[in-house]
Amino acid sequence: MSQPQRRVAVFGGVYNNHLSLQAVLEDAQRQGADEIYCLGDIGGFGPHPDLSVAMLRDAGIPTMQGNYDQSIGLGLDDCQCGYTDPRDNHFAQISYNYTLAKTSDDHRRWLRDLPPNFRLEMGGQRILMAHGSPRRINEFLWASTTPEPFIKRLLDENQADLLLVTHTGIQWHRPLDNDPGRGLVNVGAIGRPANDGRTGVWYAMLTETGQADNPVDVELRCVEYDHQKLAAQMRQEDLPEEFVETILTGWWTTCLEIMPAKERAGGRF
Ligand SMILES: [Fe+2]
Repeated sequence: MSQPQRRVAVFGGVYNNHLSLQAVLEDAQRQGADEIYCLGDIGGFGPHPDLSVAMLRDAGIPTMQGNYDQSIGLGLDDCQCGYTDPRDNHFAQISYNYTLAKTSDDHRRWLRDLPPNFRLEMGGQRILMAHGSPRRINEFLWASTTPEPFIKRLLDENQADLLLVTHTGIQWHRPLDNDPGRGLVNVGAIGRPANDGRTGVWYAMLTETGQADNPVDVELRCVEYDHQKLAAQMRQEDLPEEFVETILTGWWTTCLEIMPAKERAGGRF
């Protein structure tokens, strides 16, 4: 009898969205995930920060430190999100101050001590997981501005075949053309929709195939959750209506200035 194929679920960018986190963990389990990893940024613009941290800790999900987690853990002044526009920074500061004020000391200690990377092997491929990139915790790796030679260099410099990142909030996968099995996956974010007019959120499912030309299959999965309930909780917590609108419509209303023109052209604003 053949062994069942090993499956690994990877998500990032929880942004306090405890309802989508629950939905993604359930989806990954239904899909038969043998392992589940979180690439960080537990905090963000959603409600009740302690709920998401508690859920990850209770479920024993290996979690790496994103820029948000580092900031909350160390009690820094801001989220180190890397925005450059004053309006984006204004809204980021509102959610950061809210998250910092509402995260317990015990959870802050846990966030402070999270590891910066994960490595594992699947189908003979060396998998490296990082938050922004292996070289910078808050580097934005967008599909339209990350050329293939740069991906190859990142892989070679870090002794990896497949690099998994998050931080930008928009998912994409680029297999290298002449290098079977190698490439880069931005797993997206599960805390808010992907600026595509859909209310679902995205994560990655990796599956060992046993095939030499494609040893690890990468599937980007969209998961629906009770976004109306989340929006109601955000309003109860007096979080900005701009954030609520994104949850309800699937279109980003903030963080638009750091988005390259091509990704921005796919959105409404
Ligand atoms: Fe981040």
